[in-house]
Amino acid sequence: MPKTRLNTALRLASACVLGLSLANPAHAGEVEVLHWWTAGGEAKSAAVLADMLKARGHSWKDFAVAGGGGESAMTVLKTRAVAGTPPAAAQIKGLDIQEWAKLGFLTNLDSVAAAEQWDTLLPGVITQVMKYQGHYVAVPVNVHRVNWLWINPKALAKAGASVPTNWTEFVAAAEKLQAAGIIPLAHGGQPWQDATVFEAIALEVLGIDDYRKAFVMHDSATLKGPKMVEALTRFAQVRQFIDKNSAGRDWNLATGMLLRGEAGMQIMGDWAKGEITAAGMVPGKDILCVATPGTAGSFTFNIDSFAFFKLNSDDDQTAQRALASTILTPEFQEVFNLNKGSIPARLDSDMSKFDSCAQDSMATFKSANAEGKLVPSWSHGLATTSQVQGALYDVLTKFFNDKNADPVATADLMARAVRSAQ
Ligand code: GAL
Repeated sequence: MPKTRLNTALRLASACVLGLSLANPAHAGEVEVLHWWTAGGEAKSAAVLADMLKARGHSWKDFAVAGGGGESAMTVLKTRAVAGTPPAAAQIKGLDIQEWAKLGFLTNLDSVAAAEQWDTLLPGVITQVMKYQGHYVAVPVNVHRVNWLWINPKALAKAGASVPTNWTEFVAAAEKLQAAGIIPLAHGGQPWQDATVFEAIALEVLGIDDYRKAFVMHDSATLKGPKMVEALTRFAQVRQFIDKNSAGRDWNLATGMLLRGEAGMQIMGDWAKGEITAAGMVPGKDILCVATPGTAGSFTFNIDSFAFFKLNSDDDQTAQRALASTILTPEFQEVFNLNKGSIPARLDSDMSKFDSCAQDSMATFKSANAEGKLVPSWSHGLATTSQVQGALYDVLTKFFNDKNADPVATADLMARAVRSAQ
């Protein structure tokens, strides 16, 4: 038999053995899974994972903590961990994975990773987030693109506005929507949503290099520089395009306003697409997806992942490994991401069942990666620690809610807040 065919056969055989042993575990265990996926599309996605784990003979104990962006979930997780009773797996992202691993909480997943060749299946930009000191401690479920602008085409047509490609066009479209009695931008006044909008605006003004300098390297001069002041000035303009009732509104309720045509646009990551699909609408047709103004070709990434905690029970550890293994199967990656609005973390995924927005996202992820235009989303925890993220949230939310706030003083405050949170 030629060597390559032999290798393929061996791989298939080992996959079958692994699959069989996982499907009929000698000892069924339980995994308690903490996550914050409670909105329509999100909850459907979490259910897919629970069902696939159960199909392998283990049980799933759902530990959902409501609250978009996950701030509340992380607070609850800390309480449980301090009490010595962490869940088996928790939705933890980006640099926080490193923090939990450094504290000694996370278990090593290298045996599953080696058996299933995660290093080959996943791009480096993802594996480096999942590993601590070279060892896998977390598994990615997806890649979300954050710099999306969602548009209700009927609302736009009614207002006689065009799809904006830069800030000036965005303001023009928003003014037309407003004149037609439509709320220009669906928004929920919560710190993480404010930050999501600001991040998109800042990416256009700063460009890739200065975005990295400010939000990845925390360079003070860039954080308080003239471009940041301009980004804040534009952010302040957004206040006039949102409705009076936005304070505290959940992101999915804002998406609902967009779907009903009460609002014309929304700046939100593509978990919003999960809501569009769950409502029976077609993304790319009933609701348009375009890059946020001035960021076409760039991709702000947000990777959802589960980190796995150290457990005592052997059975539960077996269930934990089964969960880790399930997450990277092509079947799970496809069904989960069809519901969630994101794209699979496996770049070899067949995208034929996905809508045009997801196909566009996958193509842009690959081209942005090749062209150096792939940047981590700081507002979703991929660029920096939760301390720095929280410090920026505080400054930006205060700024957004105070119509007298000064952009120059606020940029200065951003630099100082980041420095003190490091
Ligand atoms: C993000 C998370 C997404 C989605 C969103 C809203 O941080 O990565 O999966 O859940 O929050 O809750």
